Amino acid sequence: MRVLGIETSCDDTGVAVFDTDAGLLGHLLYSQIKTHADYGGVVPELAARDHIRKVIPLLDTLLQNINCERTDIDAIAYTKGPGLAGALLAGSAVAKGLALAWDVPAIGVHHMEGHMLAPMLEDDAPQYPFIALLVSGGHTLLAQVNAIGDYTILGQTLDDAVGEAFDKTAKILGLGYPGGPAISRVAEQGVPGRFVFPRPMLDRPGLDFSYSGLKTFAMNTANKFEELAVQDVADIAHAFQLAAVETLVVKSRRALQQTNCDRLVVAGGVGANRYLRTALMDMTEAEQARVYYPRIEFCTDNGAMIAYAGAQRLHQADDDLAFQVRPRWSIEELPAL
Ligand code: KG4
Ligand code: ZN
Repeated sequence: MRVLGIETSCDDTGVAVFDTDAGLLGHLLYSQIKTHADYGGVVPELAARDHIRKVIPLLDTLLQNINCERTDIDAIAYTKGPGLAGALLAGSAVAKGLALAWDVPAIGVHHMEGHMLAPMLEDDAPQYPFIALLVSGGHTLLAQVNAIGDYTILGQTLDDAVGEAFDKTAKILGLGYPGGPAISRVAEQGVPGRFVFPRPMLDRPGLDFSYSGLKTFAMNTANKFEELAVQDVADIAHAFQLAAVETLVVKSRRALQQTNCDRLVVAGGVGANRYLRTALMDMTEAEQARVYYPRIEFCTDNGAMIAYAGAQRLHQADDDLAFQVRPRWSIEELPAL
């Protein structure tokens, strides 16, 4: 079976074809960074319009690249939520329209399930059960994953997501959008120890996170300067990243210990952060556990993870043609396979 995946939940248009026998046949991504850069963040209406413009041409190119005919597609998976309502609607309308025209089923995929299953696209895929650390622009959570659809949230952010904290801190430091990659780039030049950020929630038991305090601390630190020099920015970025990553690492260790599990899967855009990857590698090694990541390009939003997740839920296809999206949607609501 060949499943076409369409991702449009935020500011990336992603398309991919996953074959249940041959694996991933190809994928393409169009990033809207240029569209939103002047505004310092994603403008939902512009995102939706850009998806509408880009998704069909991207799809045509992909099918040509991989020599796949429309008639070879057996199902269409699209991101149903969570995400920006207008952006989700753009993708779901295209998916439902193509499904009707090609007479194939459409499958609404949960974006975070897509992220969580992205490491399954790698040769060295994890076995179930595992602990998932989902870190994106909209989510920060630890979940126990026993099987596809069998998810228990162990802890999550009480306020901002960690990716959001990276983005907001980058904006405060004048690093622009998207903030995560910018912070991690300049942090490499930072002098360790010049600033010390708090470690929210570390002294409390449990596995919840809080990231709004780090952004406020970044703001207060930056406001002490009349003008931020390049080195000041690097030093603040370094201290911010250290604090943001340390809380993720400590809570992930707690989750592994608490569940007696020795596999950790990291997914979502912040999973592309090099410092986080190294820190989690060290922590899991010390715990005699293993950490699994998708390749870097599948950490951030992409069509491949949606095609893969849809392929796992072929028998749970939508039973109508309505464009129903779920801008807010907990992974715990997903049905088991
Ligand atoms: O998963 P994703 O592409 O989209 C959402 O579903 O939100 O994640 C985007 C988030 C943004 O907040 C972005 O700043 C962050 O991931 N991000 C990073 C890095 N690359 C992307 N954060 C830290 N370091 C990175 N290298
Ligand atoms: Zn995402």
